[in-house]
Amino acid sequence: MLSSILLAVVASTIVTAHTVITYPGWRGDNLIENTTFPYGMQWTYPCGGMPLTTNRSYWPTTGGAVAFQPGWFQGHQTAFLYINLGFGTDGPDNGPKNLSFPMIAPFQLLGPSKGPYPGTVCLPQVPLPANMSFNAGDNATIQVVEIAQHGAALFSCSDITFAEPGDERIAKVNGSNCYNSTDLGFAEIYTVTTQEMDSAANVSTSSASGLWNHSPATWSWLGYFPIFMCALGFLL
Ligand SMILES: *[C@@H]1O[C@H](CO)[C@@H](O)[C@H](O)[C@H]1NC(C)=O
Ligand SMILES: *[C@@H]1O[C@H](CO)[C@@H](O)[C@H](O)[C@H]1NC(C)=O
Ligand SMILES: *[C@@H]1O[C@H](CO)[C@@H](O)[C@H](O)[C@H]1NC(C)=O
Ligand SMILES: *[C@@H]1O[C@H](CO)[C@@H](O)[C@H](O)[C@H]1NC(C)=O
Ligand SMILES: *[C@@H]1O[C@H](CO)[C@@H](O)[C@H](O)[C@H]1NC(C)=O
Ligand SMILES: *[C@@H]1O[C@H](CO)[C@@H](O)[C@H](O)[C@H]1NC(C)=O
Ligand SMILES: *[C@@H]1O[C@H](CO)[C@@H](O)[C@H](O)[C@H]1NC(C)=O
Ligand SMILES: *[C@@H]1O[C@H](CO)[C@@H](O)[C@H](O)[C@H]1NC(C)=O
Repeated sequence: MLSSILLAVVASTIVTAHTVITYPGWRGDNLIENTTFPYGMQWTYPCGGMPLTTNRSYWPTTGGAVAFQPGWFQGHQTAFLYINLGFGTDGPDNGPKNLSFPMIAPFQLLGPSKGPYPGTVCLPQVPLPANMSFNAGDNATIQVVEIAQHGAALFSCSDITFAEPGDERIAKVNGSNCYNSTDLGFAEIYTVTTQEMDSAANVSTSSASGLWNHSPATWSWLGYFPIFMCALGFLL
């Protein structure tokens, strides 16, 4: 029954829809395409064009559930999913400046078709990023990134306030708001090295600060500079 309701909604928003975070609540509807966002708002880094909100959801200090509907657009028969955390108030909208703290290893989603599809993914226990801890009352933002088949990324965020596990202000997680639809599958992502890096080009970070010393090693490293910057730009 849920599926048929979702299908109806999907059909009515077929052109502009992407990822919807259902738990914890998202910043708001960014399934928008207009002259400001001619390609669709949700492609905008870091939170699909939505600024920081103040109607935060409580979420456990020990990590908790993240649920979303990934298939609100055509062309996502497969997708890569990432979930990151950001915290702090030094970002442009007084939210997190840095959302580069992964909470999970990315995984691949296998959808039923190239067209839009209904369906929910729920990860019941998303941990905090490695070596990080928060106190009840701290604010943070959870970012869900869905990488489409062509390599571009859709962004959506949930603003949270941490609370002790069991705090009654944390919305209950149960079979109606946290489940995996049976028509969705999952795959692990791994890489295979096809050529090792030339160790002569492996300059440590400390010698990289000597960039302008014209040693041969520096120059060979310089040759990689633009690529390095691209990679950095992608990570930030
Ligand atoms: C916060 O408020 C916005 C605007 O009313 C709404 O779209 C969004 O769903 C709300 N988010 C939560 C988590 O309640
Ligand atoms: C497009 O939608 C966004 C989000 O609702 C809004 O901020 C923006 O003003 C809209 N642009 C136009 C031209 O209507
Ligand atoms: C967390 O966010 C809420 C809502 O925006 C705000 O009222 C509160 O002061 C913030 N807490 C901290 C510790 O920054
Ligand atoms: C964001 O955090 C990551 C991980 O600590 C760090 O490598 C990166 O430099 C930070 N980026 C910014 C813009 O602060
Ligand atoms: C977490 O801390 C451990 C032990 O200090 C360290 O080995 C590991 O590299 C850290 N992980 C990250 C992602 O910083
Ligand atoms: C599941 O929890 C939500 C609150 O997060 C609640 O609104 C809903 O009624 C619950 N559903 C069931 C079947 O218990
Ligand atoms: C949904 O599938 C993912 C990936 O296999 C799994 O980690 C998660 O626990 C599943 N969710 C539920 C509610 O079983
Ligand atoms: C590059 O240098 C680092 C630090 O010295 C070392 O751990 C790593 O194995 C080196 N990588 C290669 C491909 O030589």
